[in-house]
Amino acid sequence: MRIETPREFERFGAMLVYGLQKIYQLDGGLAGVAASPQNGDRVIQQIPYEQLHEIEKQMAIIVPVRNERLKLVQGVLCGIPNPCLTIVISNSQRTPIDRFAIEQDSIANFSRFLQNDIVVIHQKDPLLGNAFAKGGYPEIIDDSNRVRDGKAEGMIAGIMLAKLAGKKYVGFIDSDNYFPGAVLEYIHEFAAGFATSKSKNTMVRIAWHSKPKVLESGLYFAKWGRASTHTNRVLNDLLSHYSGFETEIMKTGNAGEHALSVDLAMQMCFASGYAVETQQIIALMERFGGVIGDLDARIIRDRVEVYQIESRNPHLHEVKGDDHVDDMIQSSLSVIYHSALTPERIKTDILETLRSKGTVGPRQEPPQQQTYPPLARIKLRSFKAALKKHDRLNTLLGA
Ligand code: GDD
Ligand code: MG
Repeated sequence: MRIETPREFERFGAMLVYGLQKIYQLDGGLAGVAASPQNGDRVIQQIPYEQLHEIEKQMAIIVPVRNERLKLVQGVLCGIPNPCLTIVISNSQRTPIDRFAIEQDSIANFSRFLQNDIVVIHQKDPLLGNAFAKGGYPEIIDDSNRVRDGKAEGMIAGIMLAKLAGKKYVGFIDSDNYFPGAVLEYIHEFAAGFATSKSKNTMVRIAWHSKPKVLESGLYFAKWGRASTHTNRVLNDLLSHYSGFETEIMKTGNAGEHALSVDLAMQMCFASGYAVETQQIIALMERFGGVIGDLDARIIRDRVEVYQIESRNPHLHEVKGDDHVDDMIQSSLSVIYHSALTPERIKTDILETLRSKGTVGPRQEPPQQQTYPPLARIKLRSFKAALKKHDRLNTLLGA
């Protein structure tokens, strides 16, 4: 891969957010190939094939699924590079038709062709809920002792499985992507971000180059999603508020496709459902920013680096309707609204946006999103012991 060196960054306490990086070549060749002039002046960095491969060997890819078309899920699995460990967390329906059983069969069959084990688990699997209870993390389970609904809740379960599998990195890829080639690209970009990072606390977020839409009788390649336009504007406003300099650095406020070093993932406070990606930025600003609480020497040493990489493939996924997008805008802006970092001026701006959309009433405030405590609190041994009985997790747990 040949990738642009970030041109700029914003520092917020011990958090560094790098500017968007463009990709110049998806396959940048092997290591040891004579450096091109661009490598010499380091405007473009070559991340050799071998290095991407080494990082991908240490990476788990979590694929959240809820009632998606099997052909799409299969395409996504086909795009995941061979060295990665694939973990499918499904919250698909079990009754009246057991869609999960159909998914499981289809994935098991598919993985025979890959000669790769794909871990498939249902979000509501009682053993999973029990593992969180035994590990001392009751917040994520409901009254029936099962993991709660939501994409973020599935991601959290996935992170724990990646941790148990001893992985160093964890990436997330939505299961409703039409282009397997885009999936492959995103994961190489995750690896490229980790390859250039100097910190063990790293996050890599993908910004799509374009999102094709049918407009009149032709294709139109839109640059920004409807939710990201709002989220990025408000996050940039928040960063500018503290630095005193207007910035547009944040381009990935709602990046569904992103990856974290497992060390960092274990320290994060995740928000429920679709608020999760925006909350990650807010959580990092709160924890590493030095505005809330002091920055101790350890936090400064363990600074966090956020990379934003612009993918080349168009992003095409299932269209799920306007209400769904409005819900996403509401939950994303709501986590910013309720952060102790957010000044009144920005809160007023958020209220105006949400009220103009009619998702928040004239005298209402946006509802507070559920946030979960850091996963580092979970007693790993108890969590793992509770999953030992699971006959589909043997390989992952090294049993
Ligand atoms: N395990 C699990 N549990 N998966 C879920 C759940 C759940 O409760 N709900 C949704 N998913 C899966 C979907 O099947 C899909 O693969 C993925 O999570 C994303 O859900 P979508 O419903 O397709 O969301 P979206 O496409 O509107 O939004 C995506 O992109 C946004 C950025 O534009 C998501 O990734 C958002 O989180 C992201 O902000
Ligand atoms: Mg989608």
